[in-house]
Amino acid sequence: MDAAILVESLTGNTWKAAELVGAKLQEEGWGITGLSRVRRPDHASIQRADIVLVGTWTHGLFVFGQAPWGIGALSQLPAMQGKRAAVFCTFALNPGKTLDKMTAVISGVGADVIGGLAMNRMKLDRNAEEFAARLVDAVPALQ
Ligand SMILES: Cc1cc2nc3c(=O)[nH]c(=O)nc-3n(C[C@H](O)[C@H](O)[C@H](O)COP(=O)(O)O)c2cc1C
Repeated sequence: MDAAILVESLTGNTWKAAELVGAKLQEEGWGITGLSRVRRPDHASIQRADIVLVGTWTHGLFVFGQAPWGIGALSQLPAMQGKRAAVFCTFALNPGKTLDKMTAVISGVGADVIGGLAMNRMKLDRNAEEFAARLVDAVPALQ
């Protein structure tokens, strides 16, 4: 199974989460076709991937108004008709409906979003392992 990873990150947490998820998936025998920024997506890595993982960070007023940062950039990702995708976000206190909003946007570029995980920025290791394990369990079953 090959995954492309696309990330929006301001201070590095989401990029680190992406690297951790990619490393865990590789330990499980997956290939990573590329890790690139949402605003400069590596088109070839998306084309070669069986699944595209899209990550960003939670922006809001901490207890309300949470949304994925860079929603406009997410909506301008290349068309992903026929591709599977999964979404993830990092957060400090409460992600609110960030994942639901990401799912709507990534579905809007044509991908079939199979799930997602919000990762507490203090628990990236554990959360990345959980996300990777869920992907490894879910994706073969969807073949
Ligand atoms: C302007 C700003 C607003 C934020 N709003 C929220 C929020 O509403 N809820 C939350 O849980 N975290 C919030 N955060 C925390 C970030 O989502 C968190 O630190 C995230 O891991 C940053 O990812 P990055 O390091 O990849 O940029 C906010 C951070 C910033 C800078």
